[in-house]
Order: sequence, then C-alpha cells, then structure tokens
Amino acid sequence: MAQSTLITVDMTIASVVDRWPDAARIFARYGLSCASCSISKSETIAAGAAGHGGGRIDMNELMRDLNTLADTGKLPANLPAANATAGAGAGMGAPKGMAAPQTGIGSVIAVMSGKGGVGKSLVAGLLAVGLKRRGMSVGILDGDITGPSIPRMFGVREKPAVAGAQRLMPPKSRGGIPIMSMNLLLPGEEEAVIWRGPMVSGAIRQFYSDVEWGTLDHLIVDLPPGTSDAPLTVMQALPIAGVVLVTTPQALATMVVTKAVRLVKQLGGDILGIVENMSYVSAPDGSRMEVFGPSQGLKLVIASNAPLLAKIPIDPEIAHLADTGMIEDYTSPEFDELVANFIAVAPALVPAAAH
Ligand SMILES: Nc1ncnc2c1ncn2[C@@H]1O[C@H](COP(=O)(O)OP(=O)(O)OP(=O)(O)O)[C@@H](O)[C@H]1O
Ligand SMILES: [Mg+2]
Repeated sequence: MAQSTLITVDMTIASVVDRWPDAARIFARYGLSCASCSISKSETIAAGAAGHGGGRIDMNELMRDLNTLADTGKLPANLPAANATAGAGAGMGAPKGMAAPQTGIGSVIAVMSGKGGVGKSLVAGLLAVGLKRRGMSVGILDGDITGPSIPRMFGVREKPAVAGAQRLMPPKSRGGIPIMSMNLLLPGEEEAVIWRGPMVSGAIRQFYSDVEWGTLDHLIVDLPPGTSDAPLTVMQALPIAGVVLVTTPQALATMVVTKAVRLVKQLGGDILGIVENMSYVSAPDGSRMEVFGPSQGLKLVIASNAPLLAKIPIDPEIAHLADTGMIEDYTSPEFDELVANFIAVAPALVPAAAH
C-alpha cells in the first residue's frame, strides 16, 4: 500500500500532536521536542525543523515516519535513537546544557516516579545491586540533589577523592558499586540543599562528566520525585538511554503515571518498563493483602506502552536493609524477576570503545 500523506509540512506541530499524540515522540527523536510547548501552536513542521534543527533534519524521513504513524497508528521501527541529535545543539530535544556522552559509560538509565515516596531510590539501588550480581559493571548517580538517599541505603559515607584536575573518584559500596551523590559532598548527612535549576543541572553534569566512573555497562540515575522541573532538569542534563518508571498501585488513579509517561515522551525518551512497588504484603499464611488496592499492572502497561518489569511487595526486610545501609544483602524472587526483565529490555550495550 502506498503511503498516504495525511501529514504535510505546512501543518502546525500542535495540530499533528493533538490528533496523533505519539507524534510528539517522533518529533522529539528528530530534535523537535518542543512539540509540546506553546510555540508549536503556531509553528508549522517546516518552520520548526528549519528553526530548531539548523537544517540538519532530514525532512523526507521525518515526514515518512509521521505518515507511517498516521497510516498505521503505530510508531515506526528504526526511529532515530533518543538523543541522537545531542551534542549538535539541535533543537530543544538536545539542550545545550546536555553533557556529552562519556567514553566508557554504556547506557544511562533514569529511574523516575510521578510522585515521591513510592520507592524510586530503592528500585534504583536494587537494579544496580542486581545487575552487579549478574556480573555487569554499574554505577549509581544520585540525581536527587535536594533529597539524596542512595548513600544511606548503601552505607557509603566516604567523601569522593580528588583524582587529578577537577575530577572526582566516586566512593564504592561494599559490593563495589561506585556512587556519586550530593550527600557525599556535604559536611553533614542532614544538610539541606536549596538550589535553583541551573545549579542543579550544573552539578548533575559534573557528576556525570567529571567523575571517574571507569568502564560501566549501565549508569543508574535516581531522579528527583515528581513530574515538574526537578526531574526534567536532570533528564535534560544527561544523555539518557531509557527510563524505568516506578509507581504504587494507587498512583494510577491520580494521573501521575500518565503525566510521567507524557514527560518522558516529550523528551523523546523510551520507557523501558514499569515497576509496581508496594504491590501487596505477604501474610504468614501465604495469602497476599493488597494494601494500596488491587494491582494496576495491566492498566499501567496500557498507559505507558511499556512492560511491567516486576511487582515488588511491601517487605519489612527491604525497609530494614535500606535503613541500615545493607541493601546489597537483599534477595527475593521478585527482585530476581525485576533484574531479569530489566536485562531483557535494556538498551543493547554499545561496546565502550565504540563511543
Ligand atoms: N517494597 C518496599 N517494602 C518496604 N519498604 C519499602 C519498599 N519500597 C520502599 N520502601 C521504603 O519506603 C521508603 C521510601 O522509599 P524510597 O526512598 O526508595 O522512595 P522514593 O520514591 O525514592 O522517595 P523520594 O520521593 O523521597 O525520593 C524508604 O524508607 C524505603 O526503604
Ligand atoms: Mg528517593
């Protein structure tokens, strides 16, 4: 069937996204993640591409991909990679403030949640522990500058050592996971940081670029909670390959998941999978109590178009180990499932030398 041309270059970006919401994702992959901003209301595709892409956008390919979506209702395969236009300074999808990809770091994976306290830091920590156990090299960048909790979970207090000109050696957990967190740079663990966006993105970029991470398969980034400026600032500062979304069963009702999904799409990112945390409590008789209501697993998959990686129960052992810096000792079948499923969806590892 010949491809139709439902979408033409003289249509406004906003009108296309209104009718085909997934088009925002295509625009973002071509360096036009402004698809969601107010300019797009009046800007045509042609003007947007000329203005933000600096003439580097292949219009034929962009229009072909948009019309594939219009024809089939599905995102075309082989879209340009997320952040493919990074570094070229092209468009709002690759903000000037984004750190250049680091030689040696395979993929940067962000762990995100719509709202706070759902176990995002815990899932970030567990993912790193699980991948390490399976022989991969991983590091954790605590992107929650104002509420860092990763060092405490791993029992790491050591300050990063200075390694040559303006470079830092991240301290390692007992299990050998390098960790970088604002918490490790402050005089006291309870110290509060009140920073504005530009300072936060500066710090995050430095945590990525000026830290001796060594060779990593994955760098796990614990994002700040919410769907507002804080996680956005961090995501825009780093070349993120994929996002793991953490939620609890009751969160779907409050639309936070939908908001988080939209935010990731606007940035042209990929949601690799969803983790439903605090799904249930196992009673001594083996029965399951769904404290926060029934699992929303299926709805989550529909809302995010991404697989459910695991349902993690409320487990007093988790809370205890996380509070005492012993998270690396945790084992459970659900945890194994999370790690196995993550490996199945994780972006193909680019050999470090290929960067
Ligand atoms: N499945 C679980 N079972 C028991 N305790 C849990 C579980 N998940 C998280 N917790 C505990 O709940 C608290 C909040 O978890 P965590 O800090 O990971 O959430 P968060 O989403 O990162 O929070 P914030 O929004 O503040 O960054 C922690 O004390 C953690 O140990
Ligand atoms: Mg946290």
